[in-house]
Amino acid sequence: MKVLALGDIAGKAGRLAIENDLPLLKEKYNLDCVIVNADNAAHGFGMSDRIAGELFDCGVDIISTGDHYTDRDTLKVADKYPNVVRPANLPKVKEGRGHVVLNTGKEKILFISVMGRLYMDDPRREPSNPYHEVRKILDEYKDIKIKIVEIHAEATSEKVGMGHYLKGEVSAVFGSHTHVQTSDLKILEGGTGYITDLGMCGDQNSMLGAKTESALPRLLESAESRRLEPAEGVGTVSGVIFDIDPKTGKCTDVILVN
Ligand SMILES: [Fe+2]
Repeated sequence: MKVLALGDIAGKAGRLAIENDLPLLKEKYNLDCVIVNADNAAHGFGMSDRIAGELFDCGVDIISTGDHYTDRDTLKVADKYPNVVRPANLPKVKEGRGHVVLNTGKEKILFISVMGRLYMDDPRREPSNPYHEVRKILDEYKDIKIKIVEIHAEATSEKVGMGHYLKGEVSAVFGSHTHVQTSDLKILEGGTGYITDLGMCGDQNSMLGAKTESALPRLLESAESRRLEPAEGVGTVSGVIFDIDPKTGKCTDVILVN
Protein backbone atom coordinates (compact mmCIF):
# COMPACT_ATOMS: atom_id res chain seq x y z
CA MET A 1 0.00 0.00 0.00
CA LYS A 2 1.51 3.29 -1.11
CA VAL A 3 0.79 6.49 0.81
CA LEU A 4 1.96 9.84 -0.54
CA ALA A 5 2.38 12.60 2.05
CA LEU A 6 2.97 16.10 0.65
CA GLY A 7 4.25 19.06 2.65
CA ASP A 8 2.69 22.43 3.31
CA ILE A 9 0.96 24.01 0.32
CA ALA A 10 2.25 27.58 -0.04
CA GLY A 11 -0.27 29.64 -1.98
CA LYS A 12 -1.45 29.23 -5.54
CA ALA A 13 1.97 28.03 -6.75
CA GLY A 14 1.65 25.03 -4.40
CA ARG A 15 -1.96 24.33 -5.37
CA LEU A 16 -1.10 24.39 -9.08
CA ALA A 17 1.90 22.11 -8.49
CA ILE A 18 -0.39 19.53 -6.87
CA GLU A 19 -2.99 19.87 -9.61
CA ASN A 20 -0.30 19.32 -12.27
CA ASP A 21 1.78 16.62 -10.59
CA LEU A 22 -0.67 14.50 -8.64
CA PRO A 23 -2.21 12.66 -11.63
CA LEU A 24 1.32 11.76 -12.84
CA LEU A 25 2.44 10.62 -9.38
CA LYS A 26 -0.72 8.53 -8.96
CA GLU A 27 -0.10 6.78 -12.25
CA LYS A 28 3.63 6.31 -11.74
CA TYR A 29 3.47 4.97 -8.18
CA ASN A 30 -0.01 3.44 -8.08
CA LEU A 31 -0.87 5.42 -4.95
CA ASP A 32 -3.54 4.21 -2.53
CA CYS A 33 -3.77 7.33 -0.39
CA VAL A 34 -2.71 10.99 -0.66
CA ILE A 35 -2.30 13.22 2.39
CA VAL A 36 -1.45 16.94 2.05
CA ASN A 37 -0.88 19.73 4.52
CA ALA A 38 -2.75 22.88 3.44
CA ASP A 39 -1.40 25.16 6.18
CA ASN A 40 -0.66 28.06 3.82
CA ALA A 41 -2.82 27.16 0.85
CA ALA A 42 -5.00 30.30 0.72
CA HIS A 43 -2.58 33.10 -0.21
CA GLY A 44 -0.24 31.91 2.53
CA PHE A 45 -2.76 31.68 5.36
CA GLY A 46 -5.09 28.77 6.05
CA MET A 47 -7.63 27.34 3.66
CA SER A 48 -11.07 27.95 2.17
CA ASP A 49 -13.97 25.66 1.31
CA ARG A 50 -13.22 26.15 -2.40
CA ILE A 51 -9.58 25.14 -1.97
CA ALA A 52 -10.50 22.00 0.00
CA GLY A 53 -12.95 21.05 -2.78
CA GLU A 54 -10.30 21.58 -5.47
CA LEU A 55 -7.77 19.45 -3.59
CA PHE A 56 -10.27 16.61 -3.16
CA ASP A 57 -11.23 16.91 -6.85
CA CYS A 58 -7.64 16.46 -7.98
CA GLY A 59 -7.22 13.26 -5.96
CA VAL A 60 -6.24 14.25 -2.42
CA ASP A 61 -7.77 11.97 0.24
CA ILE A 62 -6.85 13.74 3.50
CA ILE A 63 -6.03 17.41 4.13
CA SER A 64 -4.39 18.56 7.36
CA THR A 65 -4.64 22.18 8.45
CA GLY A 66 -1.47 22.65 10.52
CA ASP A 67 -1.26 25.59 12.91
CA HIS A 68 -3.05 27.93 10.46
CA TYR A 69 -6.37 26.40 11.49
CA THR A 70 -7.07 29.83 13.00
CA ASP A 71 -6.94 31.59 9.61
CA ARG A 72 -9.79 32.27 7.17
CA ASP A 73 -12.51 29.58 7.15
CA THR A 74 -10.18 26.73 8.00
CA LEU A 75 -12.05 25.57 11.11
CA LYS A 76 -15.42 25.78 9.34
CA VAL A 77 -13.96 23.67 6.54
CA ALA A 78 -12.59 21.18 9.09
CA ASP A 79 -16.04 20.97 10.63
CA LYS A 80 -17.67 20.32 7.24
CA TYR A 81 -15.34 17.64 5.82
CA PRO A 82 -14.37 14.62 7.97
CA ASN A 83 -11.19 14.24 5.87
CA VAL A 84 -9.96 17.72 6.79
CA VAL A 85 -7.99 17.23 9.99
CA ARG A 86 -6.77 19.95 12.37
CA PRO A 87 -4.24 19.31 15.16
CA ALA A 88 -5.72 16.92 17.72
CA ASN A 89 -4.02 18.46 20.75
CA LEU A 90 -6.16 21.59 21.00
CA PRO A 91 -8.38 21.12 24.06
CA LYS A 92 -10.04 24.55 23.66
CA VAL A 93 -11.04 24.05 20.01
CA LYS A 94 -14.45 22.47 19.55
CA GLU A 95 -14.71 22.56 15.74
CA GLY A 96 -13.33 19.80 13.55
CA ARG A 97 -11.39 16.66 14.46
CA GLY A 98 -7.78 15.74 15.01
CA HIS A 99 -7.90 12.36 13.34
CA VAL A 100 -9.75 10.43 10.66
CA VAL A 101 -10.17 6.82 9.60
CA LEU A 102 -10.00 6.62 5.80
CA ASN A 103 -11.40 3.57 4.07
CA THR A 104 -9.48 3.20 0.79
CA GLY A 105 -11.71 0.36 -0.38
CA LYS A 106 -8.85 -2.03 0.34
CA GLU A 107 -7.75 -1.04 3.84
CA LYS A 108 -8.51 1.34 6.66
CA ILE A 109 -5.95 4.01 7.46
CA LEU A 110 -5.94 5.92 10.74
CA PHE A 111 -4.43 9.40 10.29
CA ILE A 112 -3.68 11.59 13.30
CA SER A 113 -2.31 15.15 13.23
CA VAL A 114 -0.83 16.98 16.22
CA MET A 115 1.13 20.22 16.53
CA GLY A 116 4.29 20.93 18.44
CA ARG A 117 4.70 23.37 21.30
CA LEU A 118 8.23 24.72 20.87
CA TYR A 119 8.73 27.99 18.95
CA MET A 120 5.17 28.01 17.64
CA ASP A 121 4.43 31.69 17.67
CA ASP A 122 0.94 32.07 19.15
CA PRO A 123 0.55 31.04 22.78
CA ARG A 124 -3.27 31.48 22.60
CA ARG A 125 -3.44 28.18 20.77
CA GLU A 126 -2.44 26.40 23.94
CA PRO A 127 -1.80 22.96 22.49
CA SER A 128 -1.69 20.13 25.00
CA ASN A 129 1.04 17.49 25.09
CA PRO A 130 1.12 16.02 21.55
CA TYR A 131 2.58 12.67 22.67
CA HIS A 132 -0.17 12.12 25.26
CA GLU A 133 -2.85 13.10 22.74
CA VAL A 134 -1.56 10.64 20.12
CA ARG A 135 -1.46 7.91 22.76
CA LYS A 136 -5.12 8.53 23.66
CA ILE A 137 -6.24 8.26 20.03
CA LEU A 138 -4.12 5.17 19.29
CA ASP A 139 -5.68 3.44 22.29
CA GLU A 140 -9.12 3.89 20.67
CA TYR A 141 -8.09 2.22 17.38
CA LYS A 142 -6.13 -0.86 18.31
CA ASP A 143 -7.82 -2.88 15.54
CA ILE A 144 -6.50 -0.70 12.69
CA LYS A 145 -3.17 -1.84 11.24
CA ILE A 146 -2.17 1.17 9.12
CA LYS A 147 -1.60 4.22 11.28
CA ILE A 148 0.03 7.46 10.13
CA VAL A 149 0.93 10.38 12.41
CA GLU A 150 1.80 13.95 11.44
CA ILE A 151 3.59 16.27 13.84
CA HIS A 152 3.34 19.85 12.63
CA ALA A 153 6.17 21.54 14.48
CA GLU A 154 9.06 23.97 14.22
CA ALA A 155 11.52 22.11 16.45
CA THR A 156 13.25 19.07 15.00
CA SER A 157 13.53 17.67 18.55
CA GLU A 158 9.76 17.38 18.95
CA LYS A 159 9.47 15.62 15.58
CA VAL A 160 12.37 13.22 16.13
CA GLY A 161 10.91 12.52 19.58
CA MET A 162 7.56 11.56 18.06
CA GLY A 163 9.27 9.13 15.70
CA HIS A 164 11.05 7.39 18.54
CA TYR A 165 8.00 7.50 20.81
CA LEU A 166 5.91 5.66 18.19
CA LYS A 167 8.50 3.44 16.47
CA GLY A 168 7.24 -0.08 16.02
CA GLU A 169 3.70 1.02 16.89
CA VAL A 170 2.61 3.01 13.83
CA SER A 171 3.25 2.68 10.10
CA ALA A 172 4.70 6.16 9.60
CA VAL A 173 5.48 9.46 11.33
CA PHE A 174 6.16 12.62 9.34
CA GLY A 175 6.88 16.19 10.29
CA SER A 176 5.66 19.34 8.57
CA HIS A 177 5.63 23.14 9.09
CA THR A 178 9.18 24.30 8.33
CA HIS A 179 8.76 24.19 4.51
CA VAL A 180 12.31 22.80 4.19
CA GLN A 181 12.56 19.12 3.29
CA THR A 182 14.93 17.12 5.45
CA SER A 183 17.00 14.26 4.04
CA ASP A 184 16.70 12.01 7.10
CA LEU A 185 14.03 9.70 5.75
CA LYS A 186 14.41 6.22 7.21
CA ILE A 187 12.62 3.23 8.59
CA LEU A 188 12.83 3.26 12.36
CA GLU A 189 13.16 0.11 14.43
CA GLY A 190 9.96 -1.94 14.30
CA GLY A 191 8.95 -0.77 10.79
CA THR A 192 7.93 2.88 11.20
CA GLY A 193 8.63 5.08 8.18
CA TYR A 194 9.93 8.48 9.22
CA ILE A 195 10.97 11.94 7.95
CA THR A 196 11.50 15.07 10.07
CA ASP A 197 9.95 17.43 7.51
CA LEU A 198 8.20 16.83 4.19
CA GLY A 199 9.08 20.24 2.81
CA MET A 200 6.78 22.55 0.87
CA CYS A 201 4.59 22.42 -2.20
CA GLY A 202 5.18 25.80 -3.79
CA ASP A 203 7.74 28.08 -5.41
CA GLN A 204 11.05 26.69 -4.12
CA ASN A 205 12.88 29.84 -5.30
CA SER A 206 11.37 31.89 -2.48
CA MET A 207 11.64 32.37 1.28
CA LEU A 208 9.65 29.38 2.54
CA GLY A 209 6.92 30.13 -0.01
CA ALA A 210 6.86 33.90 0.55
CA LYS A 211 8.17 36.47 -1.94
CA THR A 212 11.73 37.33 -0.91
CA GLU A 213 10.99 41.05 -1.26
CA SER A 214 8.19 40.71 1.30
CA ALA A 215 9.99 38.35 3.73
CA LEU A 216 13.59 39.63 3.80
CA PRO A 217 12.77 43.14 5.13
CA ARG A 218 11.06 41.48 8.08
CA LEU A 219 14.48 40.12 9.09
CA LEU A 220 16.50 43.21 8.16
CA GLU A 221 14.09 45.71 9.69
CA SER A 222 11.17 44.37 11.75
CA ALA A 223 8.50 41.69 11.53
CA GLU A 224 5.87 44.37 10.98
CA SER A 225 7.75 46.11 8.16
CA ARG A 226 6.12 44.16 5.33
CA ARG A 227 3.12 41.92 4.85
CA LEU A 228 4.14 38.45 3.69
CA GLU A 229 3.07 37.78 0.12
CA PRO A 230 3.12 34.28 -1.42
CA ALA A 231 5.71 33.70 -4.13
CA GLU A 232 4.26 33.30 -7.61
CA GLY A 233 6.93 31.36 -9.53
CA VAL A 234 6.27 27.89 -10.87
CA GLY A 235 5.73 25.53 -7.92
CA THR A 236 6.84 21.97 -7.35
CA VAL A 237 5.65 19.34 -4.89
CA SER A 238 7.65 17.99 -1.97
CA GLY A 239 7.02 14.98 0.23
CA VAL A 240 7.55 11.25 0.58
CA ILE A 241 5.91 7.97 -0.37
CA PHE A 242 5.62 5.35 2.33
CA ASP A 243 5.26 1.75 1.16
CA ILE A 244 3.32 -0.08 3.86
CA ASP A 245 2.58 -3.80 4.15
CA PRO A 246 -1.18 -3.90 4.80
CA LYS A 247 -0.96 -7.27 6.55
CA THR A 248 1.46 -6.06 9.24
CA GLY A 249 1.09 -2.27 9.07
CA LYS A 250 4.90 -2.01 8.85
CA CYS A 251 6.63 0.39 6.49
CA THR A 252 8.89 -1.46 4.04
CA ASP A 253 10.21 1.50 2.02
CA VAL A 254 10.19 5.26 1.98
CA ILE A 255 11.22 7.47 -0.93
CA LEU A 256 11.52 11.21 -1.43
CA VAL A 257 9.27 13.05 -3.84
CA ASN A 258 10.56 16.44 -4.91
FE1 LIG B 1 2.58 25.57 9.96
